Amino acid sequence: MARGRVIAVDGPAASGKGTLARRLAAHYRLNFLDTGLLYRAVAARLLGAGGEPHDAVAAEAAALSLDPSDLKRADLREERVSQAASIVAAHQPVRTALLKYQRAVGRTLPGAVLDGRDIGTVVFPDAEAKLFVTASLEVRALRRVKQLREKRNKAIGSRVLAEMKERDARDGSRAVAPLKPADGALVIDTTDLDADEVFHQAVRFIDSKGG
Ligand code: CDP
Repeated sequence: MARGRVIAVDGPAASGKGTLARRLAAHYRLNFLDTGLLYRAVAARLLGAGGEPHDAVAAEAAALSLDPSDLKRADLREERVSQAASIVAAHQPVRTALLKYQRAVGRTLPGAVLDGRDIGTVVFPDAEAKLFVTASLEVRALRRVKQLREKRNKAIGSRVLAEMKERDARDGSRAVAPLKPADGALVIDTTDLDADEVFHQAVRFIDSKGG
């Protein structure tokens, strides 16, 4: 059965995984999916309906009724949505509801680069190449502050850092699909690397896999 190439890019918030994944998709002419957006959309839909992110039944209902228009909502990058996304993401039924779509994207020719937290561990454990992109908490918080200011959002460094730390802890310690490097993943610490260096390391690794 024909199936697309899949490259998995995982890592914590603001590690540079999105930048890398988009660039790899363009380089290898593959589709691109930011899977974090799916969890953000579930959270935004739930909050919009007055729901509570800890409520697994309501969160699953939001995931099952997700509509493509939810992925275009203007509030997806708001901090309250980020926190709620990591709360709904800890419910197994929410993850199960989103799995089919993610796999369908990866299996559609010519294939895809997917970025997230569990792409190499759960969604595509048989991906052609797996990358785990990370960086120190301080550098990641600075990057996120810069991104927010570029979008003219007010951002207080210490608060961004504290919120990121909270989300990392939740994503890393949850029982289902916790954030961790997949077996065989190339770990790239981007703390002292620029985007070009990260890209070149990733391409060398992917090409060495015979892709
Ligand atoms: O952009 P940022 O790295 O800050 O976050 P994101 O990738 O948009 O993900 C938002 C939240 O969704 C994360 O904190 C995770 O809790 C969750 N998520 C997940 O559980 N699994 C994924 N494959 C992607 C995101």
